[in-house]
Amino acid sequence: MHYRLLGNSGLDVSLLSFGTGGPKVFTESELDETGQDAIIRYCLDQGINLFDTSQGYGDSESSLGRAFVGVPRDRYVLATKWGMYRLADDRSEVEIYADPEVLRRSIEESLRRLRTDYIDIMFFHGLRPEDYDVVYDRFGPVMAALKEEGSIRCIALSERMGEDLEHEATIHALEHHPDFWDVTMLRYALFNQSAASRALPLCVGHGVGVLNMAPVRIILSDPALLLREVARWKAEGTIPPDGLPDDGPLDWLVHADTESVASAALKFAADDPGISTVLTGTRSRVHLDANIRALERPELPAPDGERVRRVLGGLREFR
Ligand SMILES: NC(=O)c1ccc[n+]([C@@H]2O[C@H](COP(=O)([O-])OP(=O)(O)OC[C@H]3O[C@@H](n4cnc5c(N)ncnc54)[C@H](OP(=O)(O)O)[C@@H]3O)[C@@H](O)[C@H]2O)c1
Repeated sequence: MHYRLLGNSGLDVSLLSFGTGGPKVFTESELDETGQDAIIRYCLDQGINLFDTSQGYGDSESSLGRAFVGVPRDRYVLATKWGMYRLADDRSEVEIYADPEVLRRSIEESLRRLRTDYIDIMFFHGLRPEDYDVVYDRFGPVMAALKEEGSIRCIALSERMGEDLEHEATIHALEHHPDFWDVTMLRYALFNQSAASRALPLCVGHGVGVLNMAPVRIILSDPALLLREVARWKAEGTIPPDGLPDDGPLDWLVHADTESVASAALKFAADDPGISTVLTGTRSRVHLDANIRALERPELPAPDGERVRRVLGGLREFR
């Protein structure tokens, strides 16, 4: 396992990290409690030291708290998130919480569920760029106070993956309050490479650590869907008509130590100096082992990387 510094936080994090959200929330997957504990302990044994959860991922905070009982606290880095949106009282629309102290109470609950007295990385979860100013002004002082008190170590934001395809939340945050933010979570992946142009250089420039979420996700884990999407992208002109074969459109990435298209996606996701760690959301031991092997050499062969950037670089896809 490789390790990288998480920006200027002082934390050394494993290049592959484990997420409990994703298409199947950890505690709502086929894994029972014993299976959940086993996969977390297996991750630790393989050198994975960063675990991502959220107050919004079912019972996943409690699951991690249970799995880490007896494990020295300095062997793992915990990231969790708080969602600032709630349904209005008449349930007609979503609004931002009015009372800043809701954040403090929520973090107290997270600490209890995680069975710890500090959270390493505390995220604002899925922050819409248009809400940034309100959220920063209303809740920033509470986050700063909790950091001062020692309940949290790093202040972080995670992007709205399906909407913020140009990383406006991260860019706005770092252009306006670079000293406030320690960490961001964004998606830099085969089908959306846009972070490489502005967001990731800003993170490097300001010493902000980056958790790269969802390298495989939905299209890459469904070969039939991949075929349909490639045909659609060609028809729309978002990839060149002769850029990829119609059958097995990404199979040319599978050679040498790249075992599968998913392995190629993981290597690509790690192959930027701004990326601190790549989050995997697999629930399968076989896929977890493959993902660990993929990041033993965390870059694509140069001609493959060049072709990926040339052919897929115009896509802005989140699935
Ligand atoms: N806005 C946010 O804050 C936000 C948004 C998205 C994600 N996240 C965080 O990022 C984490 C990772 O995201 P994600 O779960 O979407 O990641 P992901 O690993 O890219 O996607 C998970 C999906 O990919 C499949 N998969 C993973 N590795 C595979 C492999 N080697 N071969 C074939 N299929 C594979 C999994 O199926 P199997 O289980 O069958 O392997 C699962 O269906 C989440 O768990 C969450 O912690 C945060």
